[in-house]
Amino acid sequence: MVWLIIILFCLGNSSSQILDVTNNSHLDFDYRLFGLLQRLQVEKSYDTLLVYGEDCAIPSLFERLQVPAVLVSSGSTNFDWNFSSLTLILSCNFQDEREENYRTLMKLQTSRRLILLKGHIKPESVCDFYSKKEQHNVAMVKENFYQLEVVYSCRLFQDQNYEKLNLFDGKSIYKDQFRNMHGAPIRTLSDKEPPRTIPYIDSKTGEEKFKGYVGMLISQFVKKVNATMQIREDLIKDDEEVSFVDITNFTSNDILDIGICEARTLEMSNYDAISYPYLMSSYCFMAPLPDSLPFSDVYMAIVAPSILIMFLIIFCICSVLIIYIQERSYRSLTIRSVLMNDICLRGFLAQPFPFPRQYNRKLKLIFMLVCFSSLISTTMYTAYLQAFLWGPPIEPRLTSFDDVKKSRYTMAINIYEREFLEALNVSLEDVEIYDYGKFSKLRSTFNTNYLFPVTALQWFTINEEQKLFKYKIFYYCDAFCLNQFDILSIPLRRHLPYRDIFEEHMLLQKEFGLTKYWIDQSYRDMIRANLTTFKDFSPLLENDYIEVHNLYWVFTMYFVGMGMGLCFFILEILRPLRYWRNCKIKCEYCYAFLKNFAK
Ligand SMILES: *[C@@H]1O[C@H](CO)[C@@H](O)[C@H](O)[C@H]1NC(C)=O
Ligand SMILES: *[C@@H]1O[C@H](CO)[C@@H](O)[C@H](O)[C@H]1NC(C)=O
Ligand SMILES: *[C@@H]1O[C@H](CO)[C@@H](O)[C@H](O)[C@H]1NC(C)=O
Ligand SMILES: *[C@@H]1O[C@H](CO)[C@@H](O)[C@H](O)[C@H]1NC(C)=O
Ligand SMILES: *[C@@H]1O[C@H](CO)[C@@H](O)[C@H](O)[C@H]1NC(C)=O
Ligand SMILES: *[C@@H]1O[C@H](CO)[C@@H](O)[C@H](O)[C@H]1NC(C)=O
Repeated sequence: MVWLIIILFCLGNSSSQILDVTNNSHLDFDYRLFGLLQRLQVEKSYDTLLVYGEDCAIPSLFERLQVPAVLVSSGSTNFDWNFSSLTLILSCNFQDEREENYRTLMKLQTSRRLILLKGHIKPESVCDFYSKKEQHNVAMVKENFYQLEVVYSCRLFQDQNYEKLNLFDGKSIYKDQFRNMHGAPIRTLSDKEPPRTIPYIDSKTGEEKFKGYVGMLISQFVKKVNATMQIREDLIKDDEEVSFVDITNFTSNDILDIGICEARTLEMSNYDAISYPYLMSSYCFMAPLPDSLPFSDVYMAIVAPSILIMFLIIFCICSVLIIYIQERSYRSLTIRSVLMNDICLRGFLAQPFPFPRQYNRKLKLIFMLVCFSSLISTTMYTAYLQAFLWGPPIEPRLTSFDDVKKSRYTMAINIYEREFLEALNVSLEDVEIYDYGKFSKLRSTFNTNYLFPVTALQWFTINEEQKLFKYKIFYYCDAFCLNQFDILSIPLRRHLPYRDIFEEHMLLQKEFGLTKYWIDQSYRDMIRANLTTFKDFSPLLENDYIEVHNLYWVFTMYFVGMGMGLCFFILEILRPLRYWRNCKIKCEYCYAFLKNFAK
């Protein structure tokens, strides 16, 4: 830094020596102009020289300067030229520069301008002229500047609109005036949409202030450039909510300087009225976490038909083999004997069964198979049933707009998100459209019948809020989005003269991690500003415990089974009448015996 200053000092000295010499030796005008241009190069380098007018378009001058020069003798270019921000504009006469193309004007807005004054034009009127055009980086010299040693530089935030400087006293001619705006107003308005902007009343001054990562960005900027925030509440018509769309419209119509909100970027033909991208996120949906299977359906869910059929086939095969190996003939293979095989039936239900007295190896092998499959089936079903009753399986998450249509959820959007859905060719049939305020209110109630669009940044605070609930009820569903790549920019007036300072501020805040800090703090700030509550919106879990009616199918199967067993038992008792007859005879015999015995 010290070296740089010394070098600058030497250069400044040498150039002043050149000019000194010129005073005495009366060298021609272009040589002095060269000296001045060289000095400006030292002050802050420029990479293009844009010359308006003919009088000072001196080829030998540009040859020596070694900077590309663009000559615009007609005074205007009706073309969208892309000049760099390091362009120096040399105007050979006041009003030689008559640039019309507004995009070229925008690019040249902050460039330094040097104007050669001829005749009796007053610096005030020149500064006035340029400040009306919002070009504030203007300096001018009279034709005989090397004799007067005077340069005039326009100044904005003081009574006299220019400053008279000595060419040789080393002060820089141009000044970044907007770095200290001396309390000048910045017209602004906020849509008060948390978490981007969190309005609160300052307890000390009673003024309305803003927190949140957009609110803080702008209030810090206002503080940094020593300006004042002029909130244009008067632009809001009675009891109408002002939205970011209105604010973007205000800034693009030059009614506001900076909007404290997100700029509307959809359907914009150019991006002149918005800032450099501030933050990037995705614009997707918050969806209720999928429902879990009701307990009453668990029992049916685990009985998969394909597995049942497989078991039936294995059962039949085992049964046929057992009967065939025991009887060694096909004759005893009836449907009844196969399906109601006593051994297999008991075996597959993991009950003890009689082991025949004579058995061979084959039979033993089959019994082992029966035992094994009974073990597998009973453990499998028991494990399934117990696991699912403990934690029922949940339904799949939504993956597309078609899934939403088929599901029980309704999509709730605000009026501005309608354009997004239309652009995505999603039908608006089952979509509920609310206005800005109502939509935010509905979203903050965590109504699980709805699906709400949110950006990943907004989701951050919503997720913070639901972390305090008994359990979470929403998730951020990024499988289908309104916009996968959503850019948050700040609406700015097209010809904002301190746009570069604002954008530099914005990037610095981000670089230092302040933006991230504000995002992390946003939920806490919302609580402090009384914009949210600690209310737990998670509904009481209805199926948190198992009730008798939930086991409907289990009990039905049980009673059907018991009933069948009872029927078979009764039938079995009734069938062999001979047995009863025998029983009666035996009883009579007993009776007679007892009678005789009694005698
Ligand atoms: C300047 O850039 C714009 C796009 O940003 C382009 O349309 C235009 O043609 C460019 N001008 C020149 C002279 O290249
Ligand atoms: C330059 O010449 C003018 C008159 O032509 C004189 O007033 C001025 O003092 C001179 N400057 C220097 C530095 O000698
Ligand atoms: C900021 O602006 C005020 C006028 O509003 C002025 O009095 C003050 O000196 C300025 N601050 C700085 C650091 O220049
Ligand atoms: C933008 O503002 C102008 C007037 O300032 C109005 O005519 C126009 O309808 C507005 N556009 C939107 C989209 O609000
Ligand atoms: C939009 O969706 C409709 C059906 O909903 C379909 O017929 C049409 O082709 C789609 N358009 C485009 C551009 O995808
Ligand atoms: C917060 O807002 C509620 C209504 O939304 C109000 O009843 C309460 O008094 C407010 N609390 C404070 C500290 O402002």
